[in-house]
Amino acid sequence: MSAVTVSQVRKRFGETEALAGVDLTVDEGEVVGLLGPNGAGKTTLVRVLATLLPPDAGQARIFGLNVVDDANAVRRSIGLTGQHAAVDELLTGRENLRMFGELFHLSGRRAGDRADELLDRFDLADAADRPARTYSGGMRRRLDLASSLLVRPRLLFLDEPTTGLDPRSRNAIWEVTRELVDDGTTLLLTTQYLEEADQLADRIAVIDHGDIIAEGTGDDLKDAIGGQVVDVVLLDPADRSRALEAVPAAEPLSDPRRFRVPVAEDSALGVLGTVADTLRRIGIEVHDLGLRRPTLDDVFLELTGDGPAGGAASDGQGGADTSSTTAGDGQGGAHASSTTAGDGQGGADGSNSTDDGAPSADAAEAGGSARGDDDDDQEAVA
Ligand SMILES: Nc1ncnc2c1ncn2[C@@H]1O[C@H](COP(=O)(O)OP(=O)(O)O)[C@@H](O)[C@H]1O
Ligand SMILES: [Mg+2]
Repeated sequence: MSAVTVSQVRKRFGETEALAGVDLTVDEGEVVGLLGPNGAGKTTLVRVLATLLPPDAGQARIFGLNVVDDANAVRRSIGLTGQHAAVDELLTGRENLRMFGELFHLSGRRAGDRADELLDRFDLADAADRPARTYSGGMRRRLDLASSLLVRPRLLFLDEPTTGLDPRSRNAIWEVTRELVDDGTTLLLTTQYLEEADQLADRIAVIDHGDIIAEGTGDDLKDAIGGQVVDVVLLDPADRSRALEAVPAAEPLSDPRRFRVPVAEDSALGVLGTVADTLRRIGIEVHDLGLRRPTLDDVFLELTGDGPAGGAASDGQGGADTSSTTAGDGQGGAHASSTTAGDGQGGADGSNSTDDGAPSADAAEAGGSARGDDDDDQEAVA
């Protein structure tokens, strides 16, 4: 049975066509990654599927039930962890979970037991009795994810579960996500990171401007893009056209200082050496030069011949002095820069409540206020 069936769903906000006729299916037990830059329509689609937002046109069904007509029944089978952690700052981790337990009508004892189990599993047991405001960004995300699992949903939506997290927190989220998947939870996961989609998803759908522009396995996408790339950030963007002429197979990226060279069949070190030698020979200085795995930027370059819409994958991260693959850099490529992984991306950090009976979903409603205060989420990337 299909867990999710989306057919020609459209949603417009004023001038913005957030969803432009999306078709997508997720089978029961499957993990699908919805990969796209900031503003692509990921959260809008998740909100439609979670019954928080009616589509303007088209149809969406969850386990055969219409998200508009059968909204209450749909809500009973889904869990959602929004893009921005929705935890009550004043309550402790344990209290947060118990509160969600009450909202889901668990008995006091069952809620307590389940809370303990989840605190343990999400590595929050030691911090369970501290107010959530003392938690790091990664801990908040884990707590938020735990709250959407108090009652085991048949289908879970994870909206950018690791955006803005440091590599260690990201790995922790990946780990618990994998456990859920092993338990057979059907998952629709949105992300800006190719690496994340590839790590977690059986199948990846690439979304851009509210439209699915490609679908396949991680390997399909990587085959299309090629393997590793040499990534170059020049000191001076004015040098780029000269560099592109001199370096064989060089391709410009959306950041005017950057270009990449696919490694293809050749040896990575060979390509790295050639690039370095060539640039030195023609007297061009680099800010950064390194080997990395493909990122969303590369996917878009391949699929559309251009960077993500408006360079969005990067700009949305809001890092002050980072190159346009900041997001990707945080994803564990062998990149040698010391830029910060996804700091200060604009998201609401606070708790807010909704009156629509879908408590774990309110994060998806949150707009863009700052969450730049999670200092341990701003580690340098090795
Ligand atoms: N409530 C809203 N009002 C106006 N515009 C919105 C609203 N929600 C989303 N949008 C716009 O719709 C587009 C898609 O947004 P969103 O689904 O949040 O993208 P993503 O989650 O992929 O970053 C963006 O251009 C965004 O600015
Ligand atoms: Mg979003």
